[in-house]
Amino acid sequence: MKTMQTDNAILQVRKLTRSFGRLLAVNNLGFELKSGELKAVIGPNGAGKTTLFNLITGKLSPTSGDIRFQGGSIAGLAPHAIAQRGLARSFQLLNLFPNLSVFENVRVAVQARHRLRSSLFTAADGLKGVQGKTEELLERIGLSSYADHQSSQLSYGDQRSLEIGLALATEPKLLLLDEPTSGMSPLETQQTTQLIGRISKGLAVLLIEHHIEVVMALADTILVMHHGEKIAEGTPQQVSSDSKVQEAYLGGL
Ligand SMILES: Nc1ncnc2c1ncn2[C@@H]1O[C@H](COP(=O)(O)OP(=O)(O)OP(=O)(O)O)[C@@H](O)[C@H]1O
Ligand SMILES: [Mg+2]
Repeated sequence: MKTMQTDNAILQVRKLTRSFGRLLAVNNLGFELKSGELKAVIGPNGAGKTTLFNLITGKLSPTSGDIRFQGGSIAGLAPHAIAQRGLARSFQLLNLFPNLSVFENVRVAVQARHRLRSSLFTAADGLKGVQGKTEELLERIGLSSYADHQSSQLSYGDQRSLEIGLALATEPKLLLLDEPTSGMSPLETQQTTQLIGRISKGLAVLLIEHHIEVVMALADTILVMHHGEKIAEGTPQQVSSDSKVQEAYLGGL
């Protein structure tokens, strides 16, 4: 049966729990993400945010509970099976080929996606498609003018943008970003905030982020975790005036 709330939910997390021994890293967590929504996941260190991402992307299996993506359960599926359904995560620089150019890095990612989908294309069509798609992605992540540079020569901030580009090459329906601005200068943080704002149009995004100004600039909704549990969820305004949230942060500091 459909309810108003679940009508356009792309992701539904229900009673999700993951324990490590006696520690409940994620504890009975429930929330929904709508198509096109950007939800920031915040909380003190050790709150369970990355564990939540590892459960959604299949790096970890839940102890109990369910995760539904576009209507079907993905809980406990292998990472590649989940990725194939249209869920991407940006890995912090682990995916880059340092000796390849920026263009080649993106092209490899676009080609990998094409290979999965394009048995219908002729070789020539396929190549044209890959070239065009690569150029379009470089434009989208603001790196067109660096296309010929080796990716290792990019600034740290631009390498992280390139990582996001690789995730976008898979044409995801849902993008997971775990602390995309960590280690960045204030200027890079600002540029990355703008980039995420641009690419998130029409895309569902879950964003773990410690910089509160980034969260406030980008988030439609905020989910606050503490000790594995959800302690608050709502609009930035609702969440920032929540007394439990203020307590968790003061207590956590
Ligand atoms: N593979 C693991 N084995 C054992 N314990 C783990 C494992 N992964 C995470 N934990 C524990 O689970 C808890 C939640 O960790 P998690 O990394 O999800 O927190 P986080 O909210 O991402 O924190 P941070 O803001 O520091 O990144 C922590 O106590 C952590 O030590
Ligand atoms: Mg983390």
